[in-house]
Order: sequence, then structure tokens, then C-alpha cells
Amino acid sequence: MIPLAVPDLTGNESNYLQECITTTFVSSTGPFVNRFEQMVAQAAGSLDAVALSSGTTGLHAALTAVGVGHGDLVVLPAFTFIASANAIAHCGAMPWLVDIDPQRWTLDPTLLAEMLATETETGRQSKQLIHRVTGRRVAAIMPVHTLGLPAAMAPLTELGQQYGLPVIADGAAALGAQLNGQPVGNLGAVLTVFSFNGNKTVTCGGGGAIVGHDRNLIALVRHLTTTARCGEEYDHDRVGFNYRMTNLQAAVGCAQMERLPSLVAAKQRIRQRYDQELSQLPSWQTFPSPADSSSACWFSGGLIDGISPPQMRQLLADLREAGIGARPFWKPMHWQQPYREAPRSEQTVADAVAPRILTLPCSVNLTESEQEYVIEVVRSLLSNR
Ligand SMILES: Cc1ncc(COP(=O)(O)O)c(C=O)c1O
Repeated sequence: MIPLAVPDLTGNESNYLQECITTTFVSSTGPFVNRFEQMVAQAAGSLDAVALSSGTTGLHAALTAVGVGHGDLVVLPAFTFIASANAIAHCGAMPWLVDIDPQRWTLDPTLLAEMLATETETGRQSKQLIHRVTGRRVAAIMPVHTLGLPAAMAPLTELGQQYGLPVIADGAAALGAQLNGQPVGNLGAVLTVFSFNGNKTVTCGGGGAIVGHDRNLIALVRHLTTTARCGEEYDHDRVGFNYRMTNLQAAVGCAQMERLPSLVAAKQRIRQRYDQELSQLPSWQTFPSPADSSSACWFSGGLIDGISPPQMRQLLADLREAGIGARPFWKPMHWQQPYREAPRSEQTVADAVAPRILTLPCSVNLTESEQEYVIEVVRSLLSNR
């Protein structure tokens, strides 16, 4: 089976892991953690980074740090992985689901501007931004850099400023991406969160990081995620989290980060080849690739015109039969049991796009002949439809 996405651990990963064992630095205090944070901050174009146990805990900590709390609403594109919405729910808040823009498949700023203008008001006494129908405070905007492509951050951060809403970017799979030549941690969000889960371009096995430019906010994130401990003794000044990355995870992460440019370049090369070869099929649309951005190309694949859900299931089964680990992609949040009642816009784009996405093998070490085989099989299956 040609897998969908497996890590390449052929650099210094095992040496660095051995170093952890030899030195007994296996927990959250250790030199690889500090080094990993520096490497991630630098690659993201941010001032500083905090290394964490996962992308989900990173999002939870970031939202908590900017004050998202019980009963709040957080703006979120419905088309995302459920972890983005779960992090909001872990704060006791609820996502306010906005559709995606058809050009990028990321949070639609024009639609959001309309929704903020027509569906919110400023509370008379509190001066907070209130969502009129639910009476909830709108507390933050969380764009998602879908598939490693940055969201349209300029209009989103402008809306954030206009309405006094912090922008927390879910950049889970976007390390290595750029928008207008700027790296993904320097696009105006107060905090950007990455995942280093096993299927990401850079992995720590599991892991996450928060990057930002605001020293105080980063210090607060570090404090919150280290059980809010004050000093050397057992004093804690609030309810904190045990969310820090271990030295073992960071050891793998440092070895991966040493190869970040080549790992991202491999992902981009794979995407480009699929795009070139498969876009010749009449029913094939490539993933969004706007001219202002360089996507980190986390996953590769395409959007298939006119395919019904049963036909998609059959196609996936046929691909599996041929030894190809193809997969569908995210189901939007309003289709998910926990978020069916979340307030939302019409989801015209998310509903149209989500059921037609096919992701194809895109491990960084996918060989040319493996990719050629995948292309041939996809071509033949789609030509026979
Ligand atoms: C958009 C998005 N947000 C958050 C996450 C959660 O990251 P983690 O699996 O590290 O908790 C993922 C993971 O795939 C993701 O794709």
C-alpha cells in the first residue's frame, strides 16, 4: 500500500533521541525543547515560540491566553478539522461558523465583515461585541490555514482591529507557508498555532507550538501551559495546564526542523506534479493556489466535479484495491454532532467542496514511480466514470 502521508525520520532523529536517553532529559525540561522553540520561531518569522503537547492543546492555550471563556463565541470557518472547534469548546465557548472563500478554502473575510456588521452590536454597559441572536460575546477570530495555505490575513486582521477581536491563527499544517513573501507566523495574528502530529510535514510524533510577537502574551502562554507555576516552589496563581512538549518529542522535532526547507519543497514538488498531470482530466480541479501565497502543501489531491458521495466511496475503495492510500478530507463542523447547533452562516462553499475532495499519497519520500502509478490509476478510474 502506498500510504497517504508517513514521516521521514532519516535525519538526526535517532541520534537526538539517544541523547535524551543518555542524558536522562526526557520530560519537558531539556535542551531540545529550547532549541525546537527557537527553530520554530525563526522559521515562522515570529519573535518567540512555546512548544506544546499538541496543536489542540496549543489552540486551547492560545484562546485562553487572549481571554476566551465560558459562553463566548469564536469565529471559525466551518471547513476545518474538529480540533479547531474542540479547542473553542474546551474554553467553554462555542464556534460561530463562517463559510470559506471559494478561492482559498479559508475563512471568507467579506462574508465575515457582513456578519459582524449585521449580526452583532456593542453591549450598552459592557461595551463588548455581542452576537444579537444568541446574546453571547464574540471573543476572537480563528482563521485556519487550510491544507497549509494561509488564510487572507490582511482583511481578517483589519476586522479584528475594527471590532477589538484578537486573531488566533490555526496554522496546524502551515509551517513553511508564506503570504506575500511573509512567513506564516508574521501575518498579523496575535498568536499562531502549529501541529507536529505524525501526519504533518514536520512531526514530533505528536506536538504543537504557539508563536507570536507579543512578549507578554507569549510569557502568559508559557506560564499557563506549565501549570501556572510561580517560581521554584509549589505555588500556582491560576488554573493552568500541563501542556508542554517533552524533550523526547522536541528531539525528533529538532531533527525534522533541520530539514524543514527540503521537506516543504518535497511536498510542493509532489503537489505540482499531481496538479500538472491530473488537471488534464475534465472532472479534476486542483487545490487552491492563489498567486499571493506559497502553500506548505500539507496534503495533495484534488476536487472532483460532479461526484456523488456513493461514487466517492467507490473511488476510494477502488484506489485502496489498487494499493493506494487515498482518503476523503474534513467534514465541516456543522455536520458534526457536537456543533450542529452552533450559530452559522450559510455554508454554500464548504458544503459544495467538502464531499468532493480526494487526497492522494504525498509522503515526502514518495518516489517518482510511486507517484506515476498513483496518477495512472486515478486517470484510469476517473476516465472510466
Ligand atoms: C486545522 C487543524 N487544527 C488543529 C489540529 C490539531 O492538531 P493536533 O493533532 O496536533 O492536536 C489539526 C491536526 O490535524 C488540524 O489539521
